[in-house]
Amino acid sequence: MNIRYRLPVALALVAAVALLAAPALAGGWAVVTLDSLPAYAVANQPLTVSFMIRQHGQTPWQFDRVQVEAARQGGGATLSFDARQDGAKGHYSAVLTFPSDGTWSWGVESGLYPDRQPMPPLTVLASAPDGTANTPAPAGGAINLPTAVGLAGLVVSAGGLLALAHTRRPWAAVLLLIALTVSGVGFASAAGVSVAEPKARMLPAPTGLMLGQQLFVAKGCVVCHIHDAAKDVKRQFDFTLDGAPVLTNYKGSPDFLAKWLDNPAAIKPGTEMPTLGLSDEENGALVAFLTSGR
Ligand code: HEC
Repeated sequence: MNIRYRLPVALALVAAVALLAAPALAGGWAVVTLDSLPAYAVANQPLTVSFMIRQHGQTPWQFDRVQVEAARQGGGATLSFDARQDGAKGHYSAVLTFPSDGTWSWGVESGLYPDRQPMPPLTVLASAPDGTANTPAPAGGAINLPTAVGLAGLVVSAGGLLALAHTRRPWAAVLLLIALTVSGVGFASAAGVSVAEPKARMLPAPTGLMLGQQLFVAKGCVVCHIHDAAKDVKRQFDFTLDGAPVLTNYKGSPDFLAKWLDNPAAIKPGTEMPTLGLSDEENGALVAFLTSGR
């Protein structure tokens, strides 16, 4: 081969190898951020999930083949749902229908790396919670038996107090004591009843730490950052952004963190961490999770 051609050929070879070795170079990588974390789904009922895709964590990503994939844990076919652009550039919605109850794994395929960004597993119920999802629970108005006992005890206590004031006899003091005890027991069990009732009705909605940990995945923090509590998710793809700190055992103050998550660029102009549009509740749950010493 003529020496004049060697350099260009070598360069072309290097470029080809680089492209083959790193398909991610073609379109790069992206972060998917769910608008909100669905608490649960109901079998055979449509659930709309919406999310934002940011190429390289920054640029709204426009693509005609964005999909959501879901598979029931413990076996079964993988379902694919098309996501459609919905509203602003980079924002998509998909309507998911799960054919059976159980715990479902799911994730978003943006067309960029990671091939599928995992989302927190979703609980799919066999039917809507006790069939009264839209009927408010009987509140306040209805008086139950323990409350009635408590009220009756209170009335008798008042009588006992009056009697005691007028007669100053021991029996009045005893009556007052007994009535107060009955009233206390009545109200205490009424409180127990009213706490227990809605609990039985409600779903295991994640709160506090647990919610924060799930949002760490659902908002896409897990794409750029490492956190020990999310290592099972991280294991599913091979990416971490250079310069994004490991967040296990995060030591920053809750106040600073809340401001940082709200708008990183306001604190550090030019940072690669995007503003993800978190609600106050989401921000609070993430702060609770990250400052929990885990
Ligand atoms: C696109 C990548 C990316 C995403 C997504 C991302 N971050 Fe970051 N994050 C970074 C980078 C890069 C830094 C380092 C900031 C810098 O020095 O510019 C950082 C810094 C941080 C810090 C350290 C702040 C400090 O100085 O103490 C915390 C905490 C943090 N991110 C939490 C989160 C959380 C929570 C989420 C999800 C809601 C998230 N990040 C999403 C890239 C990302």
